Amino acid sequence: MSFQSEETELKNTKWIGKEVYSFDVIDSTNKKAKELAEKGCGSGSLITARAQNAGVGRRGRSWTSEKDTGIYMSLVLRPEMDTERVSMLTLVAALSTAKALEQFLKDKNHIPHIKWPNDIVINGKKICGILTELSLKDSDIDFVIVGIGINVTNSSFPEDIQNTASSILLECGVEIENKLLITEIWKAFEVYYDRFLQTQDFTDLKQEYESYLINKGKCVKVLDPKGEYQGIARGINQKGELLVETETGFLEVSSGEVSVRGIYGYV
Ligand code: BTN
Repeated sequence: MSFQSEETELKNTKWIGKEVYSFDVIDSTNKKAKELAEKGCGSGSLITARAQNAGVGRRGRSWTSEKDTGIYMSLVLRPEMDTERVSMLTLVAALSTAKALEQFLKDKNHIPHIKWPNDIVINGKKICGILTELSLKDSDIDFVIVGIGINVTNSSFPEDIQNTASSILLECGVEIENKLLITEIWKAFEVYYDRFLQTQDFTDLKQEYESYLINKGKCVKVLDPKGEYQGIARGINQKGELLVETETGFLEVSSGEVSVRGIYGYV
């Protein structure tokens, strides 16, 4: 059973969330965003839910989405850019989420970090994941969905993610009001997205992104389907790829097929 409310417009943003579709329980906000985008909803439309019963994660995984313990939301964008640049939007979303969270947590001495490309971690535990999906029309971008899931007040997690996942409440002892955090994330996104669009790459955002990058200067294991290797993460390039220094030189790692871990675990 789903309930749709129309009274949740974001008040302090310029163009994101002027149309908000809020649901009580749905399968996945990304899926609903796709349906609405296919019916023609505008860029900046936001879909939120109090719970998801089929939340989707990256690489075909599911996303635990219990009622009222987290934020589950998806943004519809209709950018005019080459398709190969879309993967960078997920880094823009991660930067926006880290920046917004920092405002709520800095007094508590907790710093949110980004695990490349787009997980948000606190105390080495994942508290947020981002799934960006692209839909094409005649080989041009029709729309992009940026889905963000944040563990806000969860007190426990399924066994398979117990060691890597956590919530803001568990890590920081702070209960942030969902609406405030949602607004700050999209306010930040509006600013970073504008800056990103100037060059359609990370020229201007690289330094700020790297200031949150937990992998920077650390030894990482790159899980490439063509063969696993290790190196030291040095930062990102203008395309948002991770620069990894290996024994044979620098490699540019793009997020498509590859995932990156710390050598002893998740980060
Ligand atoms: C990841 O695997 O790290 C990405 C998780 C993305 C989860 C969010 S929750 C809101 C939106 N709806 C979904 O079904 N998935 C994304």
